[in-house]
Amino acid sequence: MPRAEGKTFLVTGANAGIGYHVAEQLATTGATVVLGSRSSEKAEAAMARIRSVVPDARVRHLQLDLADLDSLKAAAGELDSLDAVVCNGGVMIDDAELMYATNHLGHFVLVHWLMPLLAAAQEGRVVTTGSLRGKTVKADDAYARSKQAQMLFGFELHRRQSAVLSLVNHPGGALDSLTPPRKVRSLPAGLLLQGKDAGAWPAVRAVLDPSVRGGQMVGPRMFGLRGEPRVEPVRGQLADTALAARVWAESVELTGVEPA
Ligand SMILES: NC(=O)c1ccc[n+]([C@@H]2O[C@H](COP(=O)([O-])OP(=O)(O)OC[C@H]3O[C@@H](n4cnc5c(N)ncnc54)[C@H](OP(=O)(O)O)[C@@H]3O)[C@@H](O)[C@H]2O)c1
Repeated sequence: MPRAEGKTFLVTGANAGIGYHVAEQLATTGATVVLGSRSSEKAEAAMARIRSVVPDARVRHLQLDLADLDSLKAAAGELDSLDAVVCNGGVMIDDAELMYATNHLGHFVLVHWLMPLLAAAQEGRVVTTGSLRGKTVKADDAYARSKQAQMLFGFELHRRQSAVLSLVNHPGGALDSLTPPRKVRSLPAGLLLQGKDAGAWPAVRAVLDPSVRGGQMVGPRMFGLRGEPRVEPVRGQLADTALAARVWAESVELTGVEPA
């Protein structure tokens, strides 16, 4: 893990799951890690836990509700500098509209307001968290559609500007003790999947690795499900630039902002 003293990294959805582990791992670099979370209680608990594992951790909380698009300008305004944002926070719920707003549109708007800070950084990075399920999407899978929109956004942001590096990552299959039993039972979990600590590695690599380039995707080495993070090819629907441009245009129309 390279040192990153003096840098500031924002992680959305950092009070739990993969986002928590991204924040904890980034805190070991000496950087300031900002936990973007809608609950200050949960953020306090997460920061206490990080400090217990990384005693000299520099962590702070930023009040952030991805589903409240109008609040995100003020949230971004709380930051003085920023070297990378990990767009990790997300939900898997039945309400397709709220899920799309939280997972994709919230990050679309947040990145828009963060762009001036990221562009002022030496090598600002936007690291978008997708999913294996977003690679090929069936029409009736609203979660996969929201994750694919996020990934297409990450690639399109790379094509539309050169002020910041835009990278996509996906955690593979990452379970923890809170994962619904249905998901655990439906797969030979121990064999194919990994813990959320390892699920954090692709995002952490995308933030820190000096050799990665904008437009690349980082995911787990073994079948994209588990293992060390590597840069993987971008193919199929994810490489469809017309589809990405359509998602971009719709997102601009829905939110009234344009990140690039
Ligand atoms: N786990 C996997 O196997 C897997 C696979 C592929 C992709 N992913 C992606 O990885 C990311 C993290 O997944 P996870 O499994 O770690 O999920 P998780 O354990 O459910 O954690 C989700 C995080 O997002 C936050 N969040 C939800 N709605 C929010 C909102 N409106 N505003 C701000 N934060 C909000 C949650 O905060 P609260 O505590 O306030 O709800 C929580 O911190 C997601 O983008 C997910 O799509 C996960």
